[in-house]
Amino acid sequence: SERSLIIKAIQQNDFLNRLDEEQINMMVECLSWDECNQGKVIIREGSEGDTLYIVADGELNVTQAGRYLRTLTRGDVFGELAILYNCKRTATVTDLPHFAKSRNRPSVWTFNRASEWWDVIVPGFTNTQWLENFRKSEETFIHLCNKLRPAMERRDTNFRVCVLKRKE
Ligand code: CMP
Repeated sequence: SERSLIIKAIQQNDFLNRLDEEQINMMVECLSWDECNQGKVIIREGSEGDTLYIVADGELNVTQAGRYLRTLTRGDVFGELAILYNCKRTATVTDLPHFAKSRNRPSVWTFNRASEWWDVIVPGFTNTQWLENFRKSEETFIHLCNKLRPAMERRDTNFRVCVLKRKE
């Protein structure tokens, strides 16, 4: 089934296989499915990115500075490096028509770090995972957040009202 394919893909990935069973199940619940447009760049080298992908169908190509690196097929995880190392995308992933060997239009399952990481993955962390991921316990983390919050909140001053910045 699709679910077992996704779970297998997660377990085979060096980064995602650190998640325990409960976290994997929650991650599977958060995945959305997306069809790729032909010739569309899915990940552009050097850009910012918060999304991790699993190939659902078809074949995608990984290139770096225009050099061919690898073809990704069903069940392959990609886009994990920018999330793991908090870096820019290290390669370009496209569905180039002249590379396409399969007749199926490529599609992917996507997982967005921005919301799911904090809403779903972190709340499921064990004490050990808190130490591994944050180098501190959950209590210390919350204590620090509460200490820092007053200094970071927007406030009106005598000179002007605070500047509203729309979330991007
Ligand atoms: P990320 O850097 O987030 O975005 C581009 C993705 O391409 C990257 O994550 C990896 O999933 C993948 N990638 C980068 N380099 C290679 C490589 N040498 N071989 C296969 N896949 C790669």
